[in-house]
Amino acid sequence: MEKFLVEKSRKIKGTINVEGAKNACLPILAASILSNGKTIIKRVPFLSDVNIMCSLLQDIGIDINKNIKDKTIEIDTKNIFNKEVCYELVKKIRASFLLAGPLLARFGKVSIQMPGGCAIGVRPIDLHLKGFKALGANINQKHGIIEIDAKDGLVGTEIYLDFPSVGATENIIMASVLAKGETTISNCATEPEIVDLIDFLNSMGAKIEGGGTETIKIKGVTSLNNCQHTIIPDRIEAGTFLVLGAATKGEISVLNVNCEHLKAVTSKLKEMNVEIEEKDNIIRVFGKNIFKNVDIKTMPYPGFPTDMQPQFMSLMSTINGTSIINETIFENRFMHVCELGLMGANIKVEGNSAIINGVDKITGSKVKATDLRAGAALIIAGLCAEGVSEIGDIYHIERGYYNIEEKLKQIGANIKRIDN
Ligand code: UD1
Repeated sequence: MEKFLVEKSRKIKGTINVEGAKNACLPILAASILSNGKTIIKRVPFLSDVNIMCSLLQDIGIDINKNIKDKTIEIDTKNIFNKEVCYELVKKIRASFLLAGPLLARFGKVSIQMPGGCAIGVRPIDLHLKGFKALGANINQKHGIIEIDAKDGLVGTEIYLDFPSVGATENIIMASVLAKGETTISNCATEPEIVDLIDFLNSMGAKIEGGGTETIKIKGVTSLNNCQHTIIPDRIEAGTFLVLGAATKGEISVLNVNCEHLKAVTSKLKEMNVEIEEKDNIIRVFGKNIFKNVDIKTMPYPGFPTDMQPQFMSLMSTINGTSIINETIFENRFMHVCELGLMGANIKVEGNSAIINGVDKITGSKVKATDLRAGAALIIAGLCAEGVSEIGDIYHIERGYYNIEEKLKQIGANIKRIDN
C-alpha cells in the first residue's frame, strides 16, 4: 500500500498550476453521451475518478482517445449502445450515477446500480429520481438495480428541488435537453461546475438558460452535435493550496484560477488575517501574519464549500483560541477529526459542529486519509507538524489531486511516497 511521508518543511515558496475541475469534468464526460458525433474536452485532469468515468463510457461503446500530455480527451459516440451500466465501475465512483440522465435522454431507458453511500454520508438519489419521474419516466428499484424507463419519451415540466443538490441538478439538466417542450428547475444548485456543464451542452446545441441562478430553463432540442470545450479551473484544488500556504507560513502563487469562484475561501482567509493578493487568474497567499479565529458554516455555492472544510480544520488546529465549523451539507463529514486528534489537535464534535481549540504544536503521526479532502487536510497538517507523519490510504487523495506529490515538492514541501 502506498503512503505519503510528510514532514515540516523549511520554506514553502513558489508557484503551483491548477488543473481543470474534477467536478466539472465528470458531468461533462457523462454529457458527451448526448452528442451525435465527436467532442473534444480540454484541460482534463487525468485523475482516477476521471479515468473510471472514461471506462464507464468505453463500456457502452464510446471511443475515448486520451492525450495526457495535452490534457485532452477526444470522444466519439458513433458506436454507442445501451446496456446495464457496469456495476464493477459504478461502485467505484458516486458520480457514475450521472450517466442516468444522459442515457435516459438518449435511449429512453437506463438500468444502473444504486451508487451507494460513502464515508461522508448516506448520499441518497431521491432528488435525481424525482426529476426523472416528473419528466415522465417510470422507476423500478429491485435488488439494488434501478430501471428507469420513458417509453413515450420525456416531456418538459416544472421541477422543484427540495435541496439544491449539485448532482440532481446536473442529472435533470442532462435528462431534459432532448425532452419535448420546456423544463424549469427551481431551487437548483448554482455551482460553477453546473455553469460549465451548461456551457458545454449549449455549445453542442442545447438551449439552456439561467445557469448560475436558482432557476434553470431548458428548451428541448431534437439532437446535439460536435463541440470543443475547455474545463474550468478546479476551485477546490486551488483553495487547498491557498490554505496550505497559510498553514505552513509559506508564500505560494496559485496560477490558472478563477478568483470569482474562490470568493468564499479567500474571504475567510482574509478574515483570518491571512494576506491574499488576487490579480487576473492568479492568487498569492502569504502566511506571515498572526492568524485570527473564525467560524465557518458550509453552504451550497456561493456559500463556503463543504469540500474545503477539512483543510480549514487543519489550519484552525494551530491557531490559538477557539474556532467552530458547522457542517450543513454532509452528515458524516468529520472523519478527519480523529486523525487530526492523533496528531495532537484538540477538536470536539457536537452534532454537526466541530469545536477546534488551537494548540501550540501538532506532531507527526501515523494517520489515514478517510476520504479525498480529509486526505488533503492531513497533508496540510503533516507539513506543519513536528516530526514525520505517515499518511495511509492515499488513493483517496489521488481521486482529486493530480500529481500532488510533484507539485508540492516543487514548492519545497517535504513529501515522499513510500510503498509498504
Ligand atoms: C457534489 C460534489 C462533491 C461536493 C458536493 C456538495 C461532484 C462529483 N461532487 O456531490 O464534491 O461535496 O457536490 O458541494 O460534483 N441529497 C439528497 N438527495 C439527492 C441528492 C443529494 O438528499 O437526491 C443530499 C446529499 O445527501 C447531501 C446534499 O444533498 O447531503 C448535497 O449533495 P449533492 O449536492 O447532491 O452532492 P453531490 O452531487 O453528490
